[in-house]
Amino acid sequence: MEMLRTPPHLPFLDGPTVMAPNLRPIDEVAWLFPDTEAEPWLEDKRRLMVSQRDQVYAQAGDWATDAAEEAAGLVLGVQSSAPLEIASFTPIERAASTVSDDLCVMVPRDGQFMLGAASLCAPTFWSLTENIGKPLSGLHSLLPQGGTELSSRINRIFAGLQCGPVLERFNWTVQLGRERFTPSSAPMKRALGELEVSDAASDLYLRVERQTIRKLPETGAVLFTIRICVDPLAPILEDGEMKEQFRQAWQSTAEDVAAYKGWPHYQHAIDWLLASS
Ligand code: HEM
Repeated sequence: MEMLRTPPHLPFLDGPTVMAPNLRPIDEVAWLFPDTEAEPWLEDKRRLMVSQRDQVYAQAGDWATDAAEEAAGLVLGVQSSAPLEIASFTPIERAASTVSDDLCVMVPRDGQFMLGAASLCAPTFWSLTENIGKPLSGLHSLLPQGGTELSSRINRIFAGLQCGPVLERFNWTVQLGRERFTPSSAPMKRALGELEVSDAASDLYLRVERQTIRKLPETGAVLFTIRICVDPLAPILEDGEMKEQFRQAWQSTAEDVAAYKGWPHYQHAIDWLLASS
């Protein structure tokens, strides 16, 4: 029996998932702290950074070096805990080893922000090796309508961003099991098809992405951080009010958005959970 904690964020309380930026400014001191995931994740993350480095770290080219160093400096500047000292590590990896957040450095090139360098240990069903070097439009191409409108909005926001404000946003989904290093959703979808509905339901987790955005003053790049929070869903839904809000958010999410997120695979297990008292 795992110890239960109060989940740090419950973004389904804000209503259905929509494909919109929904950014809000936060206090600079709240940028990376408190690190709610350090306790369950940082140790495993550090191990992954060493054992599967080729999958969780990438840099697109020399053009990203300065921005990646600037991003690393910003993180290490607010951090008191010691980085992993691995001789081959780049500055962005050293910085990423001090926080549970993943660090993605978006570098402006020819009018578009490109994924120039990243330490990404908890991908929500996407692969760093396939996406390194892509512009925002390429990163979001699998979204409903190809994510075209959203990507150009994000590009405009990144370009116009001032140094100083820290912006925050949330995404959420559900998943089978508590894994955070998930470059593909295929194994979960396969397992869902094979499990009894009650077993699937009791192994459902809420997966929340807390993302932050900061402009880097020297290079004009953007540091995009992603922190993944994973909490068992059944205990959250034991509260009647929570269950109602979750039901609303789940059911009122547009069909194309739900399909993109793979929610049809989870429908029977979610129905089962929502029906149980
Ligand atoms: C303001 C900034 C951004 C916004 C508003 C945004 C918005 C979104 C949204 C709404 C989704 C769908 C996720 C979901 O709800 O499941 C998504 C997916 C994704 N985003 Fe972003 N995003 C932003 C920045 C970035 C950046 C900087 C990266 C680069 C690392 C990125 C990479 C991705 C990837 C790889 C996916 C998954 C695509 C897939 O399913 O293949 N996003 N984003």
